[in-house]
Amino acid sequence: MFRLWLVLFVVFLVYSCFVYSNCDKSRLPVTSPDKSVVAGWNTWQQKNCQSCHQIYGLGGYLGPDLTNAASAPGKDDKYLKIFIQYGTGKMPNFQLSDSETNNLVAFLKWVDKSGKSRVPKESVTWTGNYNLDN
Ligand code: HEC
Repeated sequence: MFRLWLVLFVVFLVYSCFVYSNCDKSRLPVTSPDKSVVAGWNTWQQKNCQSCHQIYGLGGYLGPDLTNAASAPGKDDKYLKIFIQYGTGKMPNFQLSDSETNNLVAFLKWVDKSGKSRVPKESVTWTGNYNLDN
């Protein structure tokens, strides 16, 4: 009985080392959130942006997913600022100050660095799993 326990324990140790040494640090957010990002995050929650927008697919569906809005082709800080500060016919104008707007943009850029929200079709293998290295 003791031998079996020992074998299981050793297998557990080897497996744990294997799992942790394979942890890909490049997938973690590049920076921890600075003051501006945290302030933007608070405004995001106070104004309930999530009620219409998703981050990683979670949130309301009236507006688009904003996980990677900051790096989408043709979109830059200016583009995001204009939407956030003035709204559109479909998105409300929240009368945000310049600093609130800049902080929200900083927040969205920070979220963007945390990964991709959509898995490209070519990354899905025949088993239905994702190959995240593509
Ligand atoms: C009532 C729903 C609603 C709320 C609340 C809302 N939005 Fe929007 N948002 C929209 C819609 C709808 C669009 C698309 C607008 C269009 O195409 O006219 C949009 C577009 C955007 C875009 C441009 C996205 C892109 O990729 O083109 C940004 C950035 C954005 N919203 C940020 C925010 C932020 C930040 C907040 C919170 C302060 C917020 N939104 C709150 C509905 C909303």
